[in-house]
Amino acid sequence: MSHTLIDVESRRRFVKSASVFALAFTVLPPTSSCLGERSAANLAGAQRPWRINIADQREPGTRILISGTIYQADGKPAPNVKMFLYHTDAAGYYSRPVSNPREARLHGTLWSDARGQYAFDTIRPAYYAGVNPPPPLHIHVHLEPQGLPDHWVDSYYFEGDSQIRPDEIARANGLGRFSNIVQLVPGKSGVLEAVRDFRIDAALAERNQLVNGWYRN
Ligand SMILES: [Fe+2]
Repeated sequence: MSHTLIDVESRRRFVKSASVFALAFTVLPPTSSCLGERSAANLAGAQRPWRINIADQREPGTRILISGTIYQADGKPAPNVKMFLYHTDAAGYYSRPVSNPREARLHGTLWSDARGQYAFDTIRPAYYAGVNPPPPLHIHVHLEPQGLPDHWVDSYYFEGDSQIRPDEIARANGLGRFSNIVQLVPGKSGVLEAVRDFRIDAALAERNQLVNGWYRN
């Protein structure tokens, strides 16, 4: 466990708790669950895939599929939003021998499609190895919408995780489909699936913008 990792997490959690998020649950079109038809074309080599596979089939761990839609502030779908994702392996390491999030082995980049949709296949991360108490299980996510800074947003958390603080749960509950705490349920694909939508927030993008692709620390 590096100091860098702990510092990044501490700062992230502090900033998150201190921030006011203006996301509100509103009536939006349902998220399509028809991921299968177009995935083959994407995985076949599209330059800007809207669906990616972060962990190949040999990767140990429980396979999951997360998808959703990214919306603009006015509620319209947001296409071509760059999304960068990274997380630990099933043993709680970003990298080895030192677990460094900036060298995360399990990572990937996608771009939302014309309908704002995205999806990624991977494995469920584990608690940080050697950290007690650990932060919740999480998948880091950065968004870079057109015309706005590359910025971090709340990591994906997983419903039922005892490490999620009550205040984090309470806040997420008010966000509806935009909640960062996702619920994994068995899906048609044969793996656990979850949905999370995003709404682009220009003020948040400015506040959480990254330096050289990473958190300031
Ligand atoms: Fe992390």
